Amino acid sequence: MKESRKEELSPLSSLDVWEDDVLKRYPEPGVPEKKKEEFRNYDSPENDSVREFYRLNHKYQTYGNVLAKKANFLQFDKKEMPWWAAMEYLNTLIDDSDPDTSLDQLQHLLQTAEAIRADGHPDWFVLTGFIHDLGKVLCLFGEPQWNVVGDSFPVGCKFSDKIVYPDFFSDNPDSTDERYNTKYGVYTHQCGLDNIHMSWGHDEYLYHITKDHLPEEALYMIRYHSFYSQHREHAYDHLLNAHDHEMFKWVDKFNPYDLYSKSPKPPVVSELKPYYEDLIAKYLPATVKL
Ligand SMILES: [Fe+2]
Ligand SMILES: [Fe+2]
Repeated sequence: MKESRKEELSPLSSLDVWEDDVLKRYPEPGVPEKKKEEFRNYDSPENDSVREFYRLNHKYQTYGNVLAKKANFLQFDKKEMPWWAAMEYLNTLIDDSDPDTSLDQLQHLLQTAEAIRADGHPDWFVLTGFIHDLGKVLCLFGEPQWNVVGDSFPVGCKFSDKIVYPDFFSDNPDSTDERYNTKYGVYTHQCGLDNIHMSWGHDEYLYHITKDHLPEEALYMIRYHSFYSQHREHAYDHLLNAHDHEMFKWVDKFNPYDLYSKSPKPPVVSELKPYYEDLIAKYLPATVKL
């Protein structure tokens, strides 16, 4: 690997820069254009860093990468701590983004969860909003940004041209490997997402951490919340089965809370902590193994 220095592998000033880019692609329906423009700054150096981020992501997210990351991280032998402590641990992820405009991780999670709660959804849905990005602790374990965030997509079959920056996949060795570069690759028609390897990142990681504890609807939200080429573009209908389609209604329900819940008034962590500690205690074990 020629690009081996950490800075070269993690070009974003903050993980939020990727999320802001998603927001530019999928702006909130009904929000006046002027407000949308606040997120748009096409001539910024951040645009170049987003491009570079996708170049690395698309080049290195191979079938082999996913199997290797699963073999490593699904041992859950890195750290064990109470859930709330893990959320605070995630919040130690500090980056060099502008502190005036960016939310810390805990605030994004609380805002997402509070917006879900305000709409009267079930408590497991609120909890899902609260923890959905905990998998980003992968960054704290030394993983480069392209192995933590970014739009997720299936590996082991042809990369869809509906994925953002599809041209960058030409540098991915799987694109010229005939085991993986056909429409179905190693899969079969509508074999179901459970039989498919998704690109590695915070979504897949947290799914495996929570899969024995949350309702299936919550697990779909966690596992596929960055799978924009499917939930926004329907690029992989040939791999989803009928049950996946049913469950994706929940992914669609969750997505606006993730993208559009930034509120001008930051939540007060100490006021909300008791409610979330209770939710954690209701659904999750006392500690989380990372
Ligand atoms: Fe996320
Ligand atoms: Fe998020």
